[in-house]
Amino acid sequence: MPLNLKDIQAPISSEMKEFESKFRDSMKSKVLLLDKIMSYIVKRKGKQMRPMFVFLSAGIAGGINESTHRGAALIELLHTATLVHDDVVDDANYRRGFFSINALWKNKIAVLVGDYLLSRGLLLSMDHQDFHLLRIVSNAVREMSEGELLQMEKARKLDINEEVYYDIIRQKTASLIASCCAVGAASAGQENGTIEKMREFGEKVGMAFQIKDDLFDYGTSEIGKPLGIDIKEKKMTLPLIYALNQAGWLEKKSIINKIKNNSSKTKVVNEIIEFVKNSGGIEYANEVMQQYYNEATDIINSFEDSTYKTSLLELVQFTIEREK
Ligand code: IPE
Ligand code: IPE
Ligand code: MG
Ligand code: MG
Repeated sequence: MPLNLKDIQAPISSEMKEFESKFRDSMKSKVLLLDKIMSYIVKRKGKQMRPMFVFLSAGIAGGINESTHRGAALIELLHTATLVHDDVVDDANYRRGFFSINALWKNKIAVLVGDYLLSRGLLLSMDHQDFHLLRIVSNAVREMSEGELLQMEKARKLDINEEVYYDIIRQKTASLIASCCAVGAASAGQENGTIEKMREFGEKVGMAFQIKDDLFDYGTSEIGKPLGIDIKEKKMTLPLIYALNQAGWLEKKSIINKIKNNSSKTKVVNEIIEFVKNSGGIEYANEVMQQYYNEATDIINSFEDSTYKTSLLELVQFTIEREK
C-alpha cells in the first residue's frame, strides 16, 4: 500500500493540528488585500512535509516543546514565501492545483506578499528570542537565494554539469529541509553533534526531494503545478544533464541549440523529453535519488527505535515515492 501523510503523522497528529492554527494566526494582517491573499494561501495548503520534519526530528532527538512549534511555523512561512517568489521567477501560473499568487494578483503583489511572509517568520522568532533557530534558518534562506540565482545563471549560459546541478539543488531545496531537521534537534535541546547529524540527514533527504521534483517535470501526472516548465525555462535538471552526457558532440549541440532558441515551443519541449527518456536519463536520476535515500536512512537507523523514528523513515520513503 502506498504511504500517506496522514498515517505518517500519527505520532505528531496533535502537534500538526496545533501547527495549522499557529500558522494561520501568524499570517493575519490588518491590510485587507493582504489578509485576503493570506486566506487564499491558507486554504490551498501544501503537503506540510517541512513542519513534519521539524516535529519528527525534535521527537527523535528527545522532545517536542514550544520552541519546536515556533520553528515549524517559521520554516513553513519561509517555505511559502519562497514558493510565492519562485512562481514569479519561473513565470508559473499554477501551484498546489490552483492559480499561483502572481497569476491572480500579478508579480508586483506576489513580490510583496513573499516579503511579508518572510518578515512574519522573522518576527515570530524574534518575539520569542529564538536566536539559535533563527541562525540555522537564516543561513538556509541565504543559500536558497544563491541557489536560485546560480540556477538562473546556468539557464542563461546553458553550461551546467552534474556537479553544479547538485550545488544548485543543495542550496535551493536541501538547505531548507536540512534546517528543518537541525531546528527540530536544536529545539529539543540537543548539543551540536546531534544537530549536525540531523542537518546532514535533512540535506540528503532534500537532495532526493528535489531530484523527485525534477522528475515530475518529465511526467504526465497531475501534480498541481505546470509540467515541462523546467525545459521551457531552460532549467537543465539531472535527467537532461545525464542524457546530454551520453549524446555525441553533434546531437548535444543540436539539443542545446533547440533549448537556447526554441524552448518556449511545446513541440521542442516534447522532443527534448523524448530524447531524455530514450537516453536513460529518467532511470539515472532515479538511481541517484535512491542513493540519497539510502544515505539518509542510514543516519536515522543509528538512532534508537521509537514511533518518531518509524515515521521519519516513512517520511523519507514518502519523499521519493510521492505522486505530487
Ligand atoms: C515545492 O515543495 C518546492 C520544492 C522545493 C520543489 P513542496 O512540494 O514541499 O511544496 P508544497 O508545500 O507541498 O506545495
Ligand atoms: C524549487 O525549485 C523551489 C524553491 C526552492 C523555492 P522549483 O522551481 O523546481 O520548484 P517548483 O517545481 O516550482 O515547486
Ligand atoms: Mg518553480
Ligand atoms: Mg520543479
